[in-house]
Amino acid sequence: VKKTTILDIKKKYKQSIPISMVTAYDYCSAKEVDKAGIDITLVGDSLGMVMLGDKGTTNVTMDAMIHHCKAVMRGTQRSFVVGDMPFGSFETSPRDALHNAIRLMKEGGVDAVKLEGGAKMKDTIREIVRAGIPVVGHIGLTPQTVSSFGGFKLQGKTSDEALSILEDAMALQEAGCFSIVIEMVPQLVGEMITKHLSIPTIGIGAGSGTSGQVLVYHDMLGLYSDFMPKFCKQYASLSSTIHEGLKNFKKEIEQRQFPTPQHSFTMKEEESKKFIN
Ligand code: KIV
Ligand code: NA
Repeated sequence: VKKTTILDIKKKYKQSIPISMVTAYDYCSAKEVDKAGIDITLVGDSLGMVMLGDKGTTNVTMDAMIHHCKAVMRGTQRSFVVGDMPFGSFETSPRDALHNAIRLMKEGGVDAVKLEGGAKMKDTIREIVRAGIPVVGHIGLTPQTVSSFGGFKLQGKTSDEALSILEDAMALQEAGCFSIVIEMVPQLVGEMITKHLSIPTIGIGAGSGTSGQVLVYHDMLGLYSDFMPKFCKQYASLSSTIHEGLKNFKKEIEQRQFPTPQHSFTMKEEESKKFIN
């Protein structure tokens, strides 16, 4: 198996081949994402919501990210793995950001890091890129700062707002990001940003004009039902499959249908005779 590199991603972008990204948070989900041939596995801080049950992503710590990144790396052979910089790990200073980006790479084992924010993050991104760590930007709706937006709301609705997001994108490209995630903006905004950039954009709720698409594993596979954004398409209903399996297990135990000899172990006959007597 050949590991995907940043060059493979650049090549796809140059050839206008859409880039696929899906989140994973543990060994099993990472293995599935990898086996399916998804280009990029994102260890997203959305794990705070879909794995840990928080209302948002701001409680996710560096230690939690590293813990999940390690598990994802064990399940990954081919996919390019990006780890999210959690809230509080990069805003205080470029130096703190670099320190934590190095931790994600060194301890978490990821191939690149992603951090939220626009032009304000330029110096921080430069610092991390300078150290040889590939950086993915994240603009539009940035869940870590959702409190300042007043909720999970569409961004870039007015032409002024849209222009400001485009400027953010240009600033991130100039700072050295090799790709940018654009979240929850109108189709036209995703398309225009993509046209103006020379690095791939990965959209989530940003329409069909971006260079690639990303979805959250639990959302796209029907594992998380607390909240379903309009932009998410459900490609499976795993929650109902799991529900059926668990209900059947309970029923078969109660009806003494499980386990059968097929799932049980035997003793050699002479040993069992001795044992009984
Ligand atoms: O944390 C996450 O899952 C993300 C994606 C939604 C892009 O940042
Ligand atoms: Na994230």
